[in-house]
Amino acid sequence: MKPLNLLLLDCSPRRDYSTSRHLTEPLSAHFGREIHVMRRNLGTEPLPAITAEYAESLLLAAAEVKERHGAALAGSDALIRELEQADLLWISTPVHNFTVPAVLKNWIDLVVRRDCRPR
Ligand SMILES: Cc1cc2nc3c(=O)[nH]c(=O)nc-3n(C[C@H](O)[C@H](O)[C@H](O)COP(=O)(O)O)c2cc1C
Repeated sequence: MKPLNLLLLDCSPRRDYSTSRHLTEPLSAHFGREIHVMRRNLGTEPLPAITAEYAESLLLAAAEVKERHGAALAGSDALIRELEQADLLWISTPVHNFTVPAVLKNWIDLVVRRDCRPR
């Protein structure tokens, strides 16, 4: 059977004493098949925040985006590819002030974008 590609987002800023990390670790043993884990430690290695180029790209015609802001969006493009390649997305996160931690919201902003790829 083909291994499962699992994208794991760890959102806690805490390391060894993180509750969410400890809850996540044993769960991976329960899939009953080989899994390839691509782990992003968003909490301890936050992604860069979105930029003006990113925000402006949402307002441009799709054809213009690559030409004007292609380089600035490379990081976001890579995150989207990573998500598309995953069979399963696993989000390991605390609650911070009644919502998701800022690092997770930032990841969401970076992957939720209009598709500007040529068809
Ligand atoms: C800044 C901050 C805000 C928090 N806000 C909430 C909250 O609104 N609701 C809640 O139930 N817990 C809240 N908590 C508690 C954490 O979600 C909880 O302790 C969680 O298990 C921590 O996970 P971690 O050890 O993996 O970071 C907050 C913790 C922090 C540090």
